[in-house]
Amino acid sequence: MAMVSVFKNYEELSVFAAEQIISVVQQKPAAVLCLAAGNTPKLTYQKVVALAKERKVDFSAAIFIGLDEWIGIGPTIEGSCYNFLNELLFAPLSIQLNHIHFFDAIENDPETECLRIDNIINVLGGIDLTLVGIGMNGHVGFNEPGFDPNLNAHVVVLDAVTSKVGQKYFKENRELTKGITLGIAQIMASGKVLLLANGKNKAGIIHKTLQENIAVSVPASFIREHPNGLILLDEEAASELP
Ligand code: PGA
Repeated sequence: MAMVSVFKNYEELSVFAAEQIISVVQQKPAAVLCLAAGNTPKLTYQKVVALAKERKVDFSAAIFIGLDEWIGIGPTIEGSCYNFLNELLFAPLSIQLNHIHFFDAIENDPETECLRIDNIINVLGGIDLTLVGIGMNGHVGFNEPGFDPNLNAHVVVLDAVTSKVGQKYFKENRELTKGITLGIAQIMASGKVLLLANGKNKAGIIHKTLQENIAVSVPASFIREHPNGLILLDEEAASELP
């Protein structure tokens, strides 16, 4: 069962999450990491970069797998998942391109991309650490409410909530109708999973995730069953828990 921890604030939550990532890479320099884009882990990644520099942690052998991507949004567009991680993590840590495996649904057929990424994960022997946020509708990656828990990487028609909320990452209005994502099965097969949530606007969905039955209507609830899962909340996100 995953452990739930509540931190005083976003800063403390982010430092803790960053230490988890640093420690996995210190123990296994060639660790396979799957790190979500999104506002929630922003500070975590800034802390990772700062700690890596301060402690001279070597990320040069680490491998990065994309969790998800908007279909139709290229890697150079600000707001794409790749662009987000590149700015915050890959560029500051000077990660080599051949250590980064993201879905490229612009250059390639999305279904073929799913198989390509599934294959890379298999060849690498699985993911060591996955970090996910939680959507306002309880999604993880783009595993939306009603998802099929048996799928590996797959193409998704995005939930209306995701299409609407997702606009916050883009400067201009974008058509966000489809996405591509790792499946929950791949997330659950990771050695360690961190689920992060901060802020009052996540309190309602965190309550559902942790207090109601584990169900496909709240994808994040599946993380509760991860044997090495850490659900990390700030006090605001935890404010509707008993
Ligand atoms: P956020 O997104 O971190 O920007 O809130 C979370 C998600 O949709 O998974």
